[in-house]
Amino acid sequence: MSAPSMSAPPSATGPLRPYGLRCDHRVTPLGIDEPAPLLSWRLASDHRGDDPTAHRVRLARHPGELAPGGRPLWDSGELTDPGATGVPYTGPALEPRTRYHWQVTVASARDQEPAPAASWFETGLTVGPGGQDASGEGPRAAWITHAPGRIDVMDAPTEGASALNHHGLAPCPQLRRAFDAPPAPVVRARLYASARGLYEIRLNGTRVGDAELAPGWTDYHRRIQYQTYDVTELLRTGENVLAATLADGWWSGFVGFEPRRAGAHYGTEPHLFAELHLLDGEGRTTRILTDDSWRTRTGVIRHADLLMGECHDLRHHTDGWELPGHDDRDWSPARVTGTDHRLLVAAPDEPVRATAELAPRTVTRLRDGVHLVDFGQNLAGRVRLRVHALPAGARVTLRHAEALDEDGALYTANLRTAAATDLLIGDGRPDHVFEPRFTYHGFRYAEVTGLPELAATDIAAVALHSDTPWTGSFDCSDPGLRRLHSCITWGQRSNFVSVPTDCPQRDERLGWLADAQVFLPTAALNADVAAFFTKWLRDVDDARTPDGGFTNVAPRLAGVADEGAPGWGDAGVLIPWHLYRTYDDPRFLARALPGMRAWVSLVQLHNPDLVWRHRVGPHFSDWLAPGTPTPRDVVATAYFAHSAHLTARAAEVLGHHDPARDHHKLAAAVRDTFTDRFVTYTPADGAGTEPDGRADGAAEEPTGSLRIEGDTQTGYLLALAFGLLPEEWREAAARRLAHLVEAAGPGLVTGFLGVALAAPVLDAYGRADLAHALLRRTEAPSWLFPLRHGATTIWERWDGWHPDTGFRAAAMNSFNHYALGSIGEWLYRGVAGLDQSPGSTGYRHLLVRPAPGGLAHAGARYESVRGTVAVHWERTGRTLALRVQVPPGATAEIHVPTTDPGSVRESGGIPADGAHLTRAGTAPGHAVYRVASGVYRFTAAYVPHEEDMT
Ligand code: BGC
Repeated sequence: MSAPSMSAPPSATGPLRPYGLRCDHRVTPLGIDEPAPLLSWRLASDHRGDDPTAHRVRLARHPGELAPGGRPLWDSGELTDPGATGVPYTGPALEPRTRYHWQVTVASARDQEPAPAASWFETGLTVGPGGQDASGEGPRAAWITHAPGRIDVMDAPTEGASALNHHGLAPCPQLRRAFDAPPAPVVRARLYASARGLYEIRLNGTRVGDAELAPGWTDYHRRIQYQTYDVTELLRTGENVLAATLADGWWSGFVGFEPRRAGAHYGTEPHLFAELHLLDGEGRTTRILTDDSWRTRTGVIRHADLLMGECHDLRHHTDGWELPGHDDRDWSPARVTGTDHRLLVAAPDEPVRATAELAPRTVTRLRDGVHLVDFGQNLAGRVRLRVHALPAGARVTLRHAEALDEDGALYTANLRTAAATDLLIGDGRPDHVFEPRFTYHGFRYAEVTGLPELAATDIAAVALHSDTPWTGSFDCSDPGLRRLHSCITWGQRSNFVSVPTDCPQRDERLGWLADAQVFLPTAALNADVAAFFTKWLRDVDDARTPDGGFTNVAPRLAGVADEGAPGWGDAGVLIPWHLYRTYDDPRFLARALPGMRAWVSLVQLHNPDLVWRHRVGPHFSDWLAPGTPTPRDVVATAYFAHSAHLTARAAEVLGHHDPARDHHKLAAAVRDTFTDRFVTYTPADGAGTEPDGRADGAAEEPTGSLRIEGDTQTGYLLALAFGLLPEEWREAAARRLAHLVEAAGPGLVTGFLGVALAAPVLDAYGRADLAHALLRRTEAPSWLFPLRHGATTIWERWDGWHPDTGFRAAAMNSFNHYALGSIGEWLYRGVAGLDQSPGSTGYRHLLVRPAPGGLAHAGARYESVRGTVAVHWERTGRTLALRVQVPPGATAEIHVPTTDPGSVRESGGIPADGAHLTRAGTAPGHAVYRVASGVYRFTAAYVPHEEDMT
């Protein structure tokens, strides 16, 4: 399977030029309903120091108005913040359902003609909150569903899913509406569509768009997304037909481990909303709306459920039902169930799409009529199967699993009640391609029952996920680390499915906040997740408890405690902060600040002594840590201090000075409480008393010695990563951490919360060698242990399967959980050395500090909001060559790894202070330079430590 392809800058060479124009973090989006969308761009140039000095954005309804001398609707004027990556639109109110063209021109420090680039976006059904536009016109279509009494409920044809047998599953309604095209030619046709449930729409038989599982999962009682499609090309003269199929999806299907199918989760049956707007050349709009003129019946899909699977019975197929000319007189009229549009919002994210297709690695005949297919990759998606002749009533059953048991059969115990079974029932006609449309499974293996023969060319796995554009790539000389990176990336693909889920296979698939929080820094390097998290942060906000607190999962799920646990609820603070830093968009903070403040105040309210002990929800602590548990109060209080600190920083960025001051004060007080209660520090010149629990008998170190209650790796990691200790204590804490890591193998005994911090903290305190040692470790717990045993994605547990003990308890043993894959961040930041400095946002100030370890080469490339950042280094003999690409508008501090700072050369010459480069001294093992934008090529003498060598 090839690596996902990245959105790349234009390959043409030349001076400063904008590219990659986006509106609200998306390329030419349809359906923007933000009144002040962010218009942003990236920059490229082939010259050093070719930085922007000013930019100007203009917006118009017609491209011609952007030409010189034209009169645009909005002109930002010359904006002289050279560091800007975008500007929010601040012109006259945007009209709904309108295309706007915009252009950015960027002036360069090199005194050349400003370079323009243009793009467009289109507004949605409405603009602004409230579902109404200025003309008082809001959506008009009704919510419609199938006629009462038309749906038979059938028992699912699966084994092992008891909930199913009690509640049954219903056939998917089909709805159709024939209409005549308006007499004057249509110049623009847009379809705005949504469902309570899932929808797929065809216009004259052709599928509209390529969104899967639309409209996506939200708390439908608070917010329902619609998608916008350009259907101009699908329209024909004369009779046209809109045809929709609905499925239960998250709305009325099985969700998570909540077994309420009878009452369903949000509703009992799916509903459709659609508005087709046809604009003719004379400026008239004709609307085709969902209403009681639609006709409905059931068809081929006898049931479809996200967890249980999908059944197609071809005997129920009617040729041409979605085409003009079909006689639908025996269909029933659709039932109107409401006209309330207040919850409708334009989807701010890219939809789930089918993004890859995998051929089988092997197809094995297990016994008569039963084949086992190995796709060689664990993924989320579905199987596409071609059957050549399936007799009427004959069944083909597809079951899915991530692993095989000792007998080589599917291992499905870890799916819990998710039946993950698809079924095809034949109609005797030849040649049919079966592909479920409203379900997905987490699997590597499929078992196909009911076909005498199965050719490898007749079956494929289709990967589905939210289509976040790929922005990052990582490469290095170690095949193990390359595979690790691939596992991490596939974990991301499999678990970004409308919401960031914990896992794609069992009856869970929930938006757990901590999982997302620890993985976000990795995810945001691999892909542009700005739009995806814009959407999910709304879910996080919608889920907040009546007292303002963040929850553990979003959207909420009955059966999961709402009260956010330490590290889980805190994601509501950490995630917007990280998104702001990554995407240079303060709106992430502006939208989140009320929730952040409420969260921190709530913890404070319930814990006036500032040790976070009360209102801890289910307190998962350092979830799934294999070693001695970190004391809960240590974990919680560390997060309390960190959240208070980030809330203060967020308020500061937004210019809210009073709250910033209050939260800084609170953060300082919680840090003091943390050190008072949990930390013992003995200075080097102290009275000689060793801190409690010192068992190693090591001689006292010059910087003193320090213990954090519990003396666990995670305790030190939290304290160091969150800056909880006074400056002069940190070295001692880092030394203790290093000791614990060494004593464990070297090894890591952290759970979800500690793991993300381990390598970055060790590296920051000069122990990149230990971080590398952790990466090289092959025994559990380690990243390479699962890889040795065939993993193609990151496991939920360090030892989900062990040769001595087999599978861990099936009740909780996913083989596709991304949380422990949070090491991916350090592959980019540490191993390759591609990072931004702590105070930087939007990669304005890069920090390039590779940690070569014993590797021969490594590199990373990242499409930042500013432009391409790339770092690549390679060792040949005793020389290390380092290439760094800094985008226009950025600067970089480059730490060239070297054992002889005097040996460093840049582009062949001795680096001397000049317009684009200055020397900034040395750091242990590095020579440090500050550079302007451009490409730099360093070489330096480099002899690695013996123990680093692999
Ligand atoms: C999920 C986790 C989640 C956890 C809470 C599990 O069932 O799979 O990833 O964070 O519960 O502790």
